[in-house]
This record gives sequence, structure tokens and C-alpha cells, in this order.
Amino acid sequence: MSTKPKILLQFDSDQHPSVFDSVVAIDSGVDQLLPFGSVEAVDVRELVHGAMFTRGGESLKKTAIFIGGSRVKSAEQILRAVVDCFFGNIRVSVMLDANGANTTASAAVLCLQRHLPVNEITVGVLGATGSVGQRVCRLLSSQGAKVRIGSRSLSRATSLASHIQESGSRGPLTPMTTDGPRDLEQFVKGCDALIATGAAGVQLLKQEQWQGLNALKVAIDLNAVPPEGIESIEVTSAGQDVSGKLVYGAIGVGNLKMKIHKCAIATLFESNDHILDLEAIYDIGKKLEHASDI
Ligand SMILES: NC(=O)c1ccc[n+]([C@@H]2O[C@H](COP(=O)([O-])OP(=O)(O)OC[C@H]3O[C@@H](n4cnc5c(N)ncnc54)[C@H](OP(=O)(O)O)[C@@H]3O)[C@@H](O)[C@H]2O)c1
Repeated sequence: MSTKPKILLQFDSDQHPSVFDSVVAIDSGVDQLLPFGSVEAVDVRELVHGAMFTRGGESLKKTAIFIGGSRVKSAEQILRAVVDCFFGNIRVSVMLDANGANTTASAAVLCLQRHLPVNEITVGVLGATGSVGQRVCRLLSSQGAKVRIGSRSLSRATSLASHIQESGSRGPLTPMTTDGPRDLEQFVKGCDALIATGAAGVQLLKQEQWQGLNALKVAIDLNAVPPEGIESIEVTSAGQDVSGKLVYGAIGVGNLKMKIHKCAIATLFESNDHILDLEAIYDIGKKLEHASDI
């Protein structure tokens, strides 16, 4: 068994690598963190080769790469460039969680699944075109949910629906505009669950627009910055009953998100061939939820 320290290379497209991601990495058992800022896809070859060619055999799994930063598209390009460097078994494990989008979306969908069979329900995702919302829609559709994609712009919602369909979806995706009270009323009507993934500090739904909805059973708000994304859902809510609906706030979901993030980092060092993007990170969350049920 290799006794070498666990080294994590942190690739961040922002100038200053995320302190949040660095702290979580260290709290997840990383012995030595090597943070790199302003990373672009064209830069990574030399960095990845440094990780691939220094430690051989069993010890390869003791080096891994985390891709973060606030720009998810850049992170996706970096991931492709990293994977392109690998050949045969000469590789290291890699995880993408730019903007916390994969861990947050996974945690939100898993919170919903505690209460409802996702493949049988209609879920409205508000502010769906952001990095977190896109992933929530992708996961829900892959689980067979009927997904309403909410955006102020119908064309942005439609283009997201096409993108998810192209990458493989199960449940139907309905793009809808939410720009104004009438559109919102149509959007939320008949939804079994709502997940608000709008920008920080933006209120998307007023109390009177959701608390009287007959079909609605679960409402999740991922915005932690006042005012609430869904009015009257407290950030720390974690499955409490409000007006006959079970509600989650950003911190309520964030606890599971943190567990998933830490477990995913630990998973990187179990073998040298993990590629942890949305679906793999969601699977880690599912195992955590299952283990806490036992
Ligand atoms: N709990 C956690 O652990 C955690 C972790 C990460 C992120 N978050 C939170 O998750 C949420 C989503 O994050 P994100 O980075 O994906 O968000 P984002 O990209 O900043 O925004 C998401 C969407 O919100 C809509 N939006 C933006 N400004 C708006 C406005 N003034 N009025 C109405 N809609 C507006 C936009 O959609 P359209 O233009 O298409 O309408 C945008 O695509 C944020 O609140 C973030 O703070 C929580």
C-alpha cells in the first residue's frame, strides 16, 4: 500500500483559486494542496504531465485534480483538456465542481427524492438557465421527472431544453417563460415540486404565489442571500412543513452538498481513474443518502 501523501492540484479559472474549495479539500483529507489560478485549457498540459509522470503504479492514485472557479464553461474546457492528456493507465483522478454547481444540484435533487418519487412528478425549476439550474434540470430529466425549465427568456429556456435533450434525457422538458405574474402562475400550476435556482439575492416567487398551490408538496430554494428566492423559506429549513409543503433553504441543502463535496474529494484518492462530473457526483450523494437510511 502506498504511504505517499495525498496531493491535490486545484485548477481554477479565476485569478485567485477559491478559498472555499481549498479549505474543503484540506478538510477532506488532502495532505498537500497545489492551487493554480487563472488556469485556461491551453495551460493544463504541462501541469497534468507533472501529476501523471512523477508517481507511478499504486502511487498514481495519491495525486488528483480538482477543477473549480466561477466560470463553469471554462471549467468544462479545462476538464476536456485534462482528460486529453491521459493515456492508458497513466492518468490521475479528476473532479469538476466549478461554482459548486455539481455538488449543489446533486444535493437539491437528493433532498427532493427524500419525499417524492422523482420519476412520477412534475418539477418546476426557476432560474434554470444558470450553472446550478442547468444541472438540476439535467439530473431531474435523467431520473425521469417531467421538468419545466423556467427563465425570463423563452429562447434561453428552449435552448437549454435542446442542449439537455442532445446530451440524453428521459423525462420530458418543457421550456417556459417566467417573466411576469401571469407566466409565473402558469409555470407553478400543477407542479409537485419547485426548485428555485435563481441568482443570489433575487426573489423569484412571492409567498402568495406558492403557498396556496394544491399540487405542490416540496419547495426548495437554493439562494442564501436575502431576500429569499422563494419568499418565506428560511435558509436553514431542511424538510420543515410550511403551509402543508415541505421546504428546504440553501443551508438546509448545503449540509448535504458539503458532505457530497468532501466524500467526492476522498473518492478521488481511491483509484487513479475517476472522472467525477455531474452524474458521478450525484451517485456519490445517492450512496451517502442510502448509508444514512441504514
Ligand atoms: N446552497 C448552496 O450550497 C449553493 C451553492 C452554489 C450556489 N448556490 C446558489 O444557487 C443559486 C444558483 O446559482 P447560479 O450560479 O446558477 O446562479 P446565476 O447563474 O447567477 O443565476 C441563475 C439564473 O437566475 C436568473 N436571474 C438572474 N438575475 C435575475 C433577476 N434579476 N431576476 C430574475 N432572474 C434572474 C437567470 O436566468 P434567466 O436570465 O434565464 O431568467 C440566471 O441564469 C444562487 O442563488 C447561488 O447563490 C447555492
